[in-house]
Amino acid sequence: MLTFNNEKLKSVLRCPICNSEMDISYENSATLFCKGAKKHCYDFASGGYVNLCRPGQSGGGDSKQAVRARSDFLDLDYYAPVRDKLCELLCSLLETQKQPIVIDAGCGEGYYSTAIAKNDFALAGFDLSKFATDAAAKRAKREELHNAFYGVASVFELPIADGAADAVVNIFAPCVESEYSRVLRDGGYLIIACAGPDHLLGLKRAIYREIHKNNTRADMPTALSKIDSVRVKYEIDLNSNEAIKNLFAMTPYYWKTSQEDVKKLDGLDSLHTEIDVIFEIYKK
Ligand SMILES: C[S@@+](CC[C@H](N)C(=O)[O-])C[C@H]1O[C@@H](n2cnc3c(N)ncnc32)[C@H](O)[C@@H]1O
Repeated sequence: MLTFNNEKLKSVLRCPICNSEMDISYENSATLFCKGAKKHCYDFASGGYVNLCRPGQSGGGDSKQAVRARSDFLDLDYYAPVRDKLCELLCSLLETQKQPIVIDAGCGEGYYSTAIAKNDFALAGFDLSKFATDAAAKRAKREELHNAFYGVASVFELPIADGAADAVVNIFAPCVESEYSRVLRDGGYLIIACAGPDHLLGLKRAIYREIHKNNTRADMPTALSKIDSVRVKYEIDLNSNEAIKNLFAMTPYYWKTSQEDVKKLDGLDSLHTEIDVIFEIYKK
């Protein structure tokens, strides 16, 4: 049985092939179909997500193992203060709207987006990884969230109507200003999570001999107006090797670190590290 059931969100979904409006058919199994002449169809997978990639576009994004590591780590709630601040910002920015539409671009396995949906937003999460999108839809199903939709799609081509979104959130995923701006209504908000200068310094200390603080992201918006910057900074203590390795697997360092340095994590059972996340808020 399909958990997603939200008319407002359904009305802003667009066919990735012909850009027509979409509807859901419940005959045999749940299917999204477009109202265009060719009636393109997209079946809901058993987990509750839909693959809305254009032909030839599927197959990228995070691997199954990376998604598992992220889920296992985030479920420990070390990032709860980051998640809660994001929800608080959205609630305050959109307090006058009735069930605002929020897009999570590069939603991963749904830790942030399901929390957003619990605040009575109409939430659509998109990720290029089918493993991530599947995990996110399953999270929403477990939480019985009828107002959360998950699709496999690139953040460069979101299957959403122009000007439909009240907010776009972009949490440690590629930032594509032109596309986020296209889907935002005038006056809508873009919230981007960036690693602050001290983010994960303790983890870096455990691996590298020479440590550098984080620089500003290179893909930040240039045309939208920046209205605020909110920093969430605290420290955490991890007390298992599994949690340390899962945290490491969530970071870009996972791909850049030599085997010799990665091995330094092998005997480590505790780690003290900084969490430093900056939400940059833009308005269209
Ligand atoms: C570092 S993870 C962050 C996931 C999630 N926002 C979080 O913070 O838990 C980056 C995510 O971006 C996704 N991604 C990478 N390139 C993408 C693209 N072009 N379109 C959509 N998602 C993409 C990856 O599959 C991955 O799930």
